[in-house]
Amino acid sequence: MRELIEKTRSYRRFDQSTPLPREVLLDILDAARLTPSGANLQSIRYLPVTLPDEVAFVTENAKWAAYLSDWQGPSKDEAPTAWVLLLSPADTPAPGIDLGITAETILLYATSLGYGGCMFLSIDRPRIAERLHINGNMRIDLAIALGKPAETVCIKETERGEDLRYYRDELDRHIVPKLSLAQRLYKTE
Ligand SMILES: Cc1cc2nc3c(=O)[nH]c(=O)nc-3n(C[C@H](O)[C@H](O)[C@H](O)COP(=O)(O)O)c2cc1C
Repeated sequence: MRELIEKTRSYRRFDQSTPLPREVLLDILDAARLTPSGANLQSIRYLPVTLPDEVAFVTENAKWAAYLSDWQGPSKDEAPTAWVLLLSPADTPAPGIDLGITAETILLYATSLGYGGCMFLSIDRPRIAERLHINGNMRIDLAIALGKPAETVCIKETERGEDLRYYRDELDRHIVPKLSLAQRLYKTE
């Protein structure tokens, strides 16, 4: 489990020769539906996106890796091969904790199957909702890009005060700084 957690990074470049099959995605969502839900309301709805045109549209309408200012997002040959949109009723507050549990479970399971992905809050909701015919009663809370990763992502152990912005190194690896446990343990005065 520890190895799986370490491997479950945000991946933003994907291998086109191994698309994520829709039936595998549905199995991942079938597992995600078993996760905890406040008051057991289970209000999140899953919209799997696997049609190539629709996948490309969502990809183009997501804001990729804001810290990588010289990279505008994946080209066609490194794009995700599927997306999942997490939707909630528009007249209810976003179920933030349920969303987080669901999203990380999806990424953990995908990683365990040899796939991977990235969560997105920065997406063009109106454009995506229109293209995918999402009813105005529903709101897109979170989008998750998925596919077989085609990039190396490394954790860099980091101390307080160091830059927490991720970057790509000279070997084109994606480096993601993580604060040490000592920094993350809350100390009372
Ligand atoms: C709630 C949430 C929203 C995110 N939104 C975006 C996003 O819009 N675009 C993006 O490229 N990455 C997004 N990310 C990915 C983060 O940048 C990533 O989790 C962070 O850099 C740490 O990397 P790691 O996931 O490999 O630990 C999001 C992550 C979370 C948890």
